[in-house]
Amino acid sequence: MSPQQLAVWSEAVLASVEAALSAWVPASAPAGLGEAMRYGVLDGGKRLRALLVQAAAEAAGATATEAGCEAALRAACAVELIHAYSLVHDDMPCMDNDVLRRGKPTVHVAFGEAQAMLAGDAMQALAFEVLTPDEGEGAGVPPVLQARLVRILARASGQAGMAGGQAIDLASVGQALDEATLRDMHRRKTGALLRASVQMGAACGGLHPGQPAWDALTDYGHAMGLAFQIVDDVLDATQPSDTLGKTAGKDADANKPTYVSLLGLDGARQEANALLAQALSALSRSGLAAQALQPLSDLAHRIVHRDH
Ligand code: IPE
Ligand code: IPE
Ligand code: MG
Ligand code: MG
Ligand code: MG
Repeated sequence: MSPQQLAVWSEAVLASVEAALSAWVPASAPAGLGEAMRYGVLDGGKRLRALLVQAAAEAAGATATEAGCEAALRAACAVELIHAYSLVHDDMPCMDNDVLRRGKPTVHVAFGEAQAMLAGDAMQALAFEVLTPDEGEGAGVPPVLQARLVRILARASGQAGMAGGQAIDLASVGQALDEATLRDMHRRKTGALLRASVQMGAACGGLHPGQPAWDALTDYGHAMGLAFQIVDDVLDATQPSDTLGKTAGKDADANKPTYVSLLGLDGARQEANALLAQALSALSRSGLAAQALQPLSDLAHRIVHRDH
């Protein structure tokens, strides 16, 4: 796709994700909680995880049926809810202590720490509610698929993934990690949710572990997940806060081990490019139609060559 075609494709996906999130994140949650949740998740962020779900769903043929489309939309919203919750907590004073996110004050700055903690908790729960619609809701997403999506997302969110990676991140302040340990931290704290996004899209298309297409898409997600956090480390060290929409230079200030502190800027960029090549080669051995793989291929380039 040309950059313009990718932009048109992304806009259409993001419009439906935004509309669905707006419908599903309840303004009516008690005592201002809904306002904090909506502030944390709506109208912001690049939504790369949602785009990865949709791109993988299209590659796997999920969008040929109404149930497949509905499942992919729910998975896209669910992973964005988990991601937004992880950011709300990541920014809190007990973690990275950040005041700016997506170009606006962080949730705890706008609503207080207790409300930010609860908004994150409630977004996490809502993600799994969105994946498991009642009968009569959700255009007949089969219960077996619902359960698979829940399992993929839960595993990537918990100790084996995001939460575990965040624990390593906090325990590593001021330490010089070796590359294997740093890689493990990045794969968990960020990579796991990106890989899960791709796997959920693949599951919506009926793919299963052991099938060449599933394994190739998983390898793509694994490579892009790590590349994504390496690029985040590079951007933190190279871009101004107004481009990032979050405070720049935080990793060095907080003495966090990153790919930039370990390998330098050039070394980190080379690593991200090597992972991009790995991801593209995984797509080429997936056995899926080249045209159907185009959004995944374009997103891989965008993830590595973005400026925010
Ligand atoms: C930032 O993620 C946090 C990390 C996991 C590195 P994104 O860069 O995807 O943040 P948004 O969603 O676009 O704000
Ligand atoms: C955040 O990593 C990862 C998660 C939120 C799980 P960072 O702490 O590097 O993310 P930013 O730079 O604040 O967005
Ligand atoms: Mg952090
Ligand atoms: Mg942070
Ligand atoms: Mg960062």
